[in-house]
Amino acid sequence: MSSSLTSAAPSGRILVVDDEPLIAATLAEFLHSEGFQVFTAELPEAALTLAHEQPLDVLICDVQLPGLSGVDLMERLLQIQPSLLAMLITAYGTVETAIQAFQRGAQDYLLKPLRFEEVLRKIRHLIRFRQLMLDNQWLRRELNRSHDPDHMVIGQSPAMRQIAATVRKLAATPATVLIMGESGTGKELIARALHHQSPLRDEKFLAVNCAAIPRDLLENQLFGHRRGAYTGADRDMEGLFLSVGRGTLFLDEVAEMSLGTQAKLLRAIEQKEILPVGAADPVRVEARIVAATNKQLVSEVQEGRFREDLYYRLNVVSLTMPPLRDRREDLPELIDFLLAKQARALGKRRAEIAPDALRALIAAPWKGNVRELENALQRAVILSEKEVISLEDLPPDLVPSQALLPSEKLRDVMLFHERLHIERLLRACPDKKDAARRLGLSLSSLYRKIEELGIHLEDRRASLKETPTTSS
Ligand SMILES: Nc1ncnc2c1ncn2[C@@H]1O[C@H](COP(=O)(O)OP(=O)(O)OP(=O)(O)O)[C@@H](O)[C@H]1O
Ligand SMILES: [Mg+2]
Repeated sequence: MSSSLTSAAPSGRILVVDDEPLIAATLAEFLHSEGFQVFTAELPEAALTLAHEQPLDVLICDVQLPGLSGVDLMERLLQIQPSLLAMLITAYGTVETAIQAFQRGAQDYLLKPLRFEEVLRKIRHLIRFRQLMLDNQWLRRELNRSHDPDHMVIGQSPAMRQIAATVRKLAATPATVLIMGESGTGKELIARALHHQSPLRDEKFLAVNCAAIPRDLLENQLFGHRRGAYTGADRDMEGLFLSVGRGTLFLDEVAEMSLGTQAKLLRAIEQKEILPVGAADPVRVEARIVAATNKQLVSEVQEGRFREDLYYRLNVVSLTMPPLRDRREDLPELIDFLLAKQARALGKRRAEIAPDALRALIAAPWKGNVRELENALQRAVILSEKEVISLEDLPPDLVPSQALLPSEKLRDVMLFHERLHIERLLRACPDKKDAARRLGLSLSSLYRKIEELGIHLEDRRASLKETPTTSS
């Protein structure tokens, strides 16, 4: 049968298969003392069952086993866990077996009698080798990703730096993470960042919006069902927990889940098992869970709509996305980034932004956060016929025109519009003689107006950088 020795800080998970219990036990004991988590199995069946249940890094397997040869067993274990690093224990002189083992997927072999120091050296070498391969794959993908920066997290404000640092730390762990924050603050973006920075970045990332799927269907979508579980279930359905494998399952708007589904989710997180609808036995799951909500879960708990135990379990590791209005210093960079993203999507040249429009954007209330900013810019790029986005291209409800007006008095309003009009014309047409002609003024009258109205003729690029940041 199989058993496990758990170490406090495992540096690798090893399965030892040997039908001589003494060899298996002493090797396991030794590897455990070196900091590995070690499982042992005397029989092939026990090894296969274990491989279905536990993620493993290294297999050490005797060639001579009852029932199934070590090479055949290795092959079947590799089908279950293709990334397993396999080593076979062979008796001295059976070179042919060793060659055969390499051909069928072994990474190395060990000669009997075992020398533990050599076993250790080979294991460390293999684990290091695999890490290098993973790093290499990861670097290559990062290089590719740099051509597709749509998923970059922008923001150098202290709050966003803090988020980035936490994401880096959490990405290295399999911890369940709860992301809180108002709508549009970038919760999904952060969930993706957590996945892409994790060691399991090659696995799937699946997002489910719990608010968008009817409550009864959600449970089915998440946990799957067996054929015949109810009328219409004419075949097995896997469900997202299983199809995501060891990847990340992003549960968006988790507060919308029914209490029954919440109970099943808690079991999946705590026991790492689920019960598909109509199934007799539970199934092991390995998904990493990242949940998000824009609700105050504490009040949901108080109102009885959210399970308290699930809340505490999710809240062990949580992140709160700061609202955009609390980090206005990120706005110039975000606007720059989103305009570039927009241009890529539309295949157009990147739009510029007029200084007064930029100032208005920095001062806007941003109740809808980055999503609202992205929508406003999208609208502006489409509406603006020119390549420069001006104040009038911005959504009227966003730009508080009242606040920009000095007063309601007709003379003030007229001066205000006169100034706006001349500023805009001068921007589009920097040649003052030309501008004066189009305004129906003499050149000297135009200069007088510029003086009287306090119009600043600034270099747009320079002012973009120098615009002072406002706080709320
Ligand atoms: N820091 C950021 N840098 C770059 N883009 C961002 C940032 N934050 C958000 N975005 C963009 O804004 C949009 C909204 O972000 P996201 O969908 O992650 O927000 P959310 O919090 O999940 O919102 P909702 O609650 O509305 O679902 C996305 O297009 C995202 O790429
Ligand atoms: Mg979202």
